[in-house]
Amino acid sequence: MAKILLTGGAGYIGSHTYLALVEAGFEVVIFDNFSNAKPDVPSRLQDISGDAVHVIQGDVLNRDELAAVFDAHQIDGVVHFAAKKAVGESVEKPLEYIHTNVGGLLNLLSAMDGAGVRRIVFSSSATVYGDTDVQPIPEDHPRTYTSPYAYTKIAGEQILEQLNDDWAVGILRYFNPVGAHQSAMIGEDPSDIPNNLVPYIAKVATGDLEQLAVFGDDYDTPDGTGVRDYIHVEDLANGHVLSIKSLLETGSSHTVNLGTGEGSSVLDVVRAYGEACDQDLNYKIAPRRDGDVAVLTARPTKAKEELGFEATRSLADMCRSSWAWVSGQRRNSK
Ligand code: WQD
Repeated sequence: MAKILLTGGAGYIGSHTYLALVEAGFEVVIFDNFSNAKPDVPSRLQDISGDAVHVIQGDVLNRDELAAVFDAHQIDGVVHFAAKKAVGESVEKPLEYIHTNVGGLLNLLSAMDGAGVRRIVFSSSATVYGDTDVQPIPEDHPRTYTSPYAYTKIAGEQILEQLNDDWAVGILRYFNPVGAHQSAMIGEDPSDIPNNLVPYIAKVATGDLEQLAVFGDDYDTPDGTGVRDYIHVEDLANGHVLSIKSLLETGSSHTVNLGTGEGSSVLDVVRAYGEACDQDLNYKIAPRRDGDVAVLTARPTKAKEELGFEATRSLADMCRSSWAWVSGQRRNSK
């Protein structure tokens, strides 16, 4: 049974990928510094999977901690999630983002190379495409960064592209991951006020936040609000399983979008979430947010052709799963 190392595996996408990998028959080791993950995530994963969860607390910025993982475990492949991911924060702290996201990747690649492990799935983002009118976006669209965060994702991809043929690399460009695991026992769990739409709506639905500000209704879109390609986090996790499987089986690299190809507006999401939680959600129209683009949707065909990947869950599924998670959390916290 192949053994996979998940850096950042206690995080939102990492924890869902953990469950998908275990279900697919992989052995998995989580390596996480818990800077953006609650300490009880591993025990929740154990409750869901029924198996002991192997967790090593460590930091990708610590070369010794990374080397120790490869000394202790016969790792066959790595899925690298451990990175900072808030666009706005990256503008305030560019050096921290470059140090963690690029420096951390370089440390990981050195540790892997030293251990003879040369299969890596890299968590990238649609943000590498910048602001473009080309929609849906194909993978061969030029890359341009609009934030230090986007720069670190492009830099990571370009570093991986320099590696020789001993390496097989899966670059996965996420569009907008949302939703929660079907068990409602793990999900997106932002500690502060969310920047992203769905976790913000979720907190309005639970009463933790008063009102959603819809950032602009004057875009060139059907209802004037921003359109994005939302993808269920469980579909996204499945994409990672297919990616690492392909690397291990073929030794060939790939770069694919992970999205549905379908666009949903902000008001579409507000409506879908309101139906999921049976509430009229409180929102107001506010000015546009700096840096936002009107439309961002994936051309999903390459992931289908190269990995057999297809997103199957609907926006309604995404909102229902998010509501089940946050309302369950609230119930447990009372
Ligand atoms: C979605 C839509 C907003 C919040 C970001 C990052 C991207 C990736 C995913 C890391 C937009 C609108 C939002 C709110 C709103 N992260 N909105 N009110 O900006 O598409 O992508 O997260 O890889 O890199 O850029 O996601 O959820 O912030 O916004 O009206 O309170 O919702 O204007 O149209 P985004 P988002």
